[in-house]
Formats: sequence, C-alpha cells, structure tokens
Amino acid sequence: MAQKDVGNKIPIYKLKTTDEVMKYYDEWGVKNKYDQDMIDWKYSGPKETVEVFKKYAKDKNIKIYDAGCGTGLVGAELKKFGYSYFDGADLSQKLLDLVPKKLYQKISKVDLNKDIKIKDNSYDAVMCVGTFTFGHVKPHALDEFIRITKNKGLICFTINEGIYEKYGFDKKINELKENKSLNIKEFFKSDYIASKNVNAWLCLGEVLK
Ligand SMILES: C[S@@+](CC[C@H](N)C(=O)[O-])C[C@H]1O[C@@H](n2cnc3c(N)ncnc32)[C@H](O)[C@@H]1O
Repeated sequence: MAQKDVGNKIPIYKLKTTDEVMKYYDEWGVKNKYDQDMIDWKYSGPKETVEVFKKYAKDKNIKIYDAGCGTGLVGAELKKFGYSYFDGADLSQKLLDLVPKKLYQKISKVDLNKDIKIKDNSYDAVMCVGTFTFGHVKPHALDEFIRITKNKGLICFTINEGIYEKYGFDKKINELKENKSLNIKEFFKSDYIASKNVNAWLCLGEVLK
C-alpha cells in the first residue's frame, strides 16, 4: 500500500524512533496547530470511535483509559456523551499541556511501547485513537490494554490502514481472537482522515479473561 503523508512538516511515515515521534508532536502542538489542523482536515477519528463505543458502553460511570490522548479530542467526545471518568496518557508533554483542564481525571506522560505502569484489571475500557500509525505504538500495546482492562471490559481503537499488515496488527488481532482474549464486536474501515484519503480500521472488542 502506498504510504500517505498526513504530517505537518516531514511525512509521518518517515518517523522511526520514539524520540522523533515525541519531538514531532511537541512541535505540532505549538500555537495549537495540531487542533487547528484536525479541524481543517475534518479528522473524524475521535467522533467515529466514540460513536461505536457508546453502542456497547451503556454505563456512563465506567473508568476509561485514553491511550495516546494527545490534546484530548477523544475526552471531549466522551464528555459530550455523558461519560464522567477518563484518564489520559500520551508521549508528548506539549500536547498533554493543551488538554483542557478538568476534562480528564488524571493525565500522564507515558511511552505506550513500554509496559504500562498500571495494575491489572484497573479499567473498564481502553480507547486508543490515531495512535496505531507509522512509527508510533506497536501491536504489543494491545496485550497491555487487555491486561489493564477488567474481564468483559472493552477496548476500542483505530489502526491506520497503511500499517495494519506491515506492523503485524493483523497477526496480533488473530492471536487475540484465537486465544480468546478478545471477542471482536466491530471491525470496519472508518473515514478517519477522509479529506487526506487516509482511512483506518476501527475495532471494538470485549476483553475475556
Ligand atoms: C494522531 S495523534 C492522536 C491523538 C488523539 N488520540 C486524537 O485522536 O487526536 C497520535 C498520538 O500518539 C501519541 N504517541 C505516539 N507514540 C506514542 C508512544 N510511544 N506512547 C504514547 N503516545 C504516543 C502522540 O504523542 C500523539 O498524541
């Protein structure tokens, strides 16, 4: 599949190291450019993902972990639909500084390619939108999302279509299906950044333990 550029400066698919990714987003946050670009590009990832999530997450008081929360666009959607408890985590401190105050209960700087410092079964749901893309977070994070989610909880995430097979997300999802850790309820190609002709797989699964 051809790689598509959705970056602001250098093409996003050229990012290789975690350090490069962090700097890239730290710079993208300057003068709120990330949020403005998402408006200009009609980025629909957060809206589409929460639309799917709310079909399955009927209890609005559940505890949600927003992995790769960036400036909080997913939190803003969750709030819109009445969810009241969500924590956010991201690699870029600059983007975390832009998260509206009091939107999330807690925000923290983390590298999701490392083990997450959260106890097993801490959350009812994990959301991860826009963060499985070129040079960003690898499939192993899905094991961690399952670990920190309770039995029968939900994980809901997007995967940029350009890395789905290239980074082994296809194999990881099959493994999770086969070992019965994840009961996939939704899996379809979402619009994501349709204005840039970039789509993403949108997946929602129930965690089984
Ligand atoms: C396209 S943005 C999506 C942000 C937000 N979820 C949204 O939908 O607007 C990708 C996010 O992944 C974060 N990210 C990239 N690599 C990461 C890593 N290794 N650990 C944690 N966050 C990471 C970036 O800092 C950035 O905020």
